[in-house]
Amino acid sequence: MTRCVVVGSGAREHALAWGLAKSADVVVTPGNPGIAAHGLTCVDTPATQLEADLFVVGPELPLTQGLADDLRAQGKVVVGPGRHGAQLEASKAFMKRFLESAGVPTARYGVFGEIDAACAHLATMSAPYVIKTDGLAAGKGVLVTDDLSTACADVRDKLNGSAFGEAGTTIVIEEGLDGVECSLLVLCDGERAVPLVPAQDFKRVGEGDTGANTGGMGAYAPMRAMGDDDVARVMSDIVAPTLEEFRRRGIDYRGVLYAGVMMGARGPALLEYNVRFGDPETQVLVPLYGDGLYELLRRVATGELHEVPVTSSESAVTVVLAAHGYPEAPRSGDVIQGLGADGQLFVPVEGVTIFHAGTRRDDQGRFLTQGGRVLAVTATGATIARARERAYAAVDQISFEGRVLRRDIAGSAT
Ligand code: AMP
Ligand code: GLY
Repeated sequence: MTRCVVVGSGAREHALAWGLAKSADVVVTPGNPGIAAHGLTCVDTPATQLEADLFVVGPELPLTQGLADDLRAQGKVVVGPGRHGAQLEASKAFMKRFLESAGVPTARYGVFGEIDAACAHLATMSAPYVIKTDGLAAGKGVLVTDDLSTACADVRDKLNGSAFGEAGTTIVIEEGLDGVECSLLVLCDGERAVPLVPAQDFKRVGEGDTGANTGGMGAYAPMRAMGDDDVARVMSDIVAPTLEEFRRRGIDYRGVLYAGVMMGARGPALLEYNVRFGDPETQVLVPLYGDGLYELLRRVATGELHEVPVTSSESAVTVVLAAHGYPEAPRSGDVIQGLGADGQLFVPVEGVTIFHAGTRRDDQGRFLTQGGRVLAVTATGATIARARERAYAAVDQISFEGRVLRRDIAGSAT
């Protein structure tokens, strides 16, 4: 059987490994105890010391550090852009300038390194104010507020390095955009691009989209509010000029281009690009591609992406269970109840898979919380409503002290 290496240690990588294992031998580096308990092989060996037919890099950090370049230099077949392409996510200032030269519709912006100049600029704008750290911040570096003094305080915290250290010492200030948000993950093979099924992510920690931005508290797919014509419009207005700009800059982009899109009254605008699979979007997309995932990703890596992939007619919903104190100060070490030795539900619910993000095991074999997002409780079903019912039935079987979750994931989509 063909062999595939997945790089990463979160619920996204658990979902990728689980999907790829339907048609390949999968090794995850480094993985996590929940992935291993699920029967998937985890090793500590760096990817550059492993042999496989296909390498799939999950997180942005190794991509921005050039892991895909290093693997390709060894002749390996890789899903994930090189360091140059990964700049799109490594620096929001780079991304905005890239979009500008590509002619991609996006919010107007300014780049600032000085507190006084940034606050003076805010004073000329009208609400909402959008302030973003330039560098990587695990989805937590964006503030959207209607209050000018809150915006200015955030600028101060970011620019003096107290909020995000080095990653925050340059900021992007944007105009606020209105509309419906969609995560459109697009596969690129260096030449062509095909969209995956549109998904919706719930980024705020609180129900009703309140509170701080997080890495994502849940997701569902397909997002039916995004019709085929909307997807086609994103492909033509946003993705096509991006591919053209890659060509102009000599970037051979093979991997996932995750477009965070605002569907507004005047058409789609790009909020951000990520250079990898979304988390938690991947947890709802992988189950919809059945045993076709390996072949699909192999084609991404080898430049043979000729067809739009076939998906199942099912829907999927994932609900994130996060640790006490997430996102500001997540606590580790709380005992998780309701999971069996395989890290899955002790009492199975049809269509449910538990993807582990931040868990570890103690010497009695119990699972404990270890980090911010702990589990992505994922269910498929014939409809969003059915998948949602199953996901929350599973959520109700799992408990740990102080868990943080939203009860309204996909609620408006049923
Ligand atoms: P980003 O990491 O750039 O996607 O931003 C995180 C979240 O902040 C997005 O998912 C949006 O909900 C919100 N956001 C970012 N940029 C804007 C904007 N220009 N206008 C309104 N909301 C935004
Ligand atoms: N779900 C947001 C992200 O993956 O960045």
